Formats: sequence, structure tokens, C-alpha cells
Amino acid sequence: MIEIADLTVRYRSDNDIYTAIKDFSLTIPSGGTCAVIGPSGCGKSTLLKVVAGLIKEYDGSVSINGQPVNPKGQTIGFMPQNYGLLPWKTVYDNVILGMKIKKSPELLDRNVIKHLMRQLGIEGLARRYPNELSGGQQQRVALARVFALQPDVLLMDEPFSALDAITREEMQDIFLKLWRRFEVSTIFVTHYVEEALYLGQKIVILSSDEGGRSQIMDNPLFGEKDIREKEEFFQMGLKLRNIIKKDWEQAWENM
Ligand SMILES: Nc1ncnc2c1ncn2[C@@H]1O[C@H](COP(=O)(O)OP(=O)(O)OP(=O)(O)O)[C@@H](O)[C@H]1O
Ligand SMILES: [Mg+2]
Repeated sequence: MIEIADLTVRYRSDNDIYTAIKDFSLTIPSGGTCAVIGPSGCGKSTLLKVVAGLIKEYDGSVSINGQPVNPKGQTIGFMPQNYGLLPWKTVYDNVILGMKIKKSPELLDRNVIKHLMRQLGIEGLARRYPNELSGGQQQRVALARVFALQPDVLLMDEPFSALDAITREEMQDIFLKLWRRFEVSTIFVTHYVEEALYLGQKIVILSSDEGGRSQIMDNPLFGEKDIREKEEFFQMGLKLRNIIKKDWEQAWENM
């Protein structure tokens, strides 16, 4: 379970203070998923960094399974926007990196890793280095790494943004399969309305306005079979787009 209560995050630079997130509250039940959507600069990565324990200065409270965020005591699977692969390590070593740091070597289950890499279609790339991979392949390696960690929470920052539309849909399905298997509470940041609808039990629309109010909704379509082909999916996509558009117009009016 992830609980965020009255979170406010400010960035200070020179004489300036910028409020990236204001009075934001959200609860994600154990094993739940939440998609966070919103325009560039609205605070999506900031939110993930707070839950990941990378940003420590904020007002409000954030807890994972009832405990304050603590990367040393909890296993936090964070897939950053730039994948965070180490260029001097092979694909295989990148995949097991988090496990090596977090768990003892005897817990390294090679079969689990092999299975994960096969599912993600990167088994044949094990000996290559990240700069010898396409953007999409790098994303798969980063995905294998976070799941291999078997984390308490999973935080993903636009994990499929570099993929073409068809591959992205394939990866969304693989992600859902893995998420169901590992039952991990997940926050998933995306630019794509359809991706939010497909992957989020809850959907958060962060405001584009500095410190503006965000909206949280339950996604009635989550988990329905073949939902991408259905009329309701299309209609719901339109509805979300309208909410986001209105928020943008309001932000402009307030400027
Ligand atoms: N270290 C920092 N110092 C000052 N301001 C920052 C810092 N990091 C981010 N910001 C500002 O905070 C706001 C939110 O940034 P954030 O990276 O969370 O946005 P985002 O929603 O993830 O955007 P994108 O979709 O482009 O990745 C932006 O206006 C950004 O300029
Ligand atoms: Mg970002």
C-alpha cells in the first residue's frame, strides 16, 4: 500500500521557489496500480522521486506499507525516465544489479531471471552492452531489472515512451502479466491517455498549473477483456482528454 497525504514539494533555485506539487493526497491499495498523467512539467517525475525516497524535502507524509519511505529498509523498484542502465555493464549484469545490491547472492534465482528475460524478448541480448541496444530494447532491460528486484512498490516513469505504437501495446500487455504475477503496488507515469486507461485502476490527472488541484478517478474499464477495441474505451479516452484540455485552458487564463 502507498499512502500519500497532503504532499507539497517545492524546488528552490537562487531566489526562486517553485511549487511542483501542492496538497496532493493519494492512496494505492496493496497490489493496485495507478496511472499518473499530465503535461510536461506538471510534476509527474517529482511525485515518483518522492515515493522513491530520492526527494526528501517536502511537506506532508508518504508511506509504503504503513512505514515512512526508506530505500534502505524497503525494496523500491524505480524505473527512471532515462532507464538508468549502467553503460559499462552487460545486459545481464544490468538486470541483476538491483538484486545484487538489495539481496544476498544466494537469493539470486537464475531461473526467474531467465524467465523474465525470455518474456521480455531480451534473452539473446544478455552479453551486449546498453549502447548496443535500441531504445526499446533498453526499456525492456530496465523493465526486467525492476521486476527481478521483486520490489515492495514499483515506480515507472514513462517506461514505454520510446516504443512505436504496436510494440508499446505489446509491452503494456507484458507489463500487466508481470504485475499480476508479482502483485506489486505500482505508480505508472505516462503521457498517453490510452495507456493510463489500460494500465491504471486509478488515474491521476496532475494539474499543469503551478500548485494547481489534481484530479483522481477510479477507472471502470481496467482489466476488462479486449477493452482497447471497445467503444467505451474510446469514449473514456475522449472524456479524459477533455478534462486535461480544460485544465490547460484554465492554466492559461490564470497566467
Ligand atoms: N531540480 C529542480 N530544480 C528546480 N525545478 C525543478 C527541478 N526538477 C524539476 N523542476 C521543475 O518542477 C516542475 C516539475 O518537474 P517534473 O520533472 O516533475 O515534471 P514532469 O511532469 O515529470 O515533466 P515531463 O513530462 O517533461 O517529464 C517543472 O516545472 C520543472 O521545471
Ligand atoms: Mg518527467
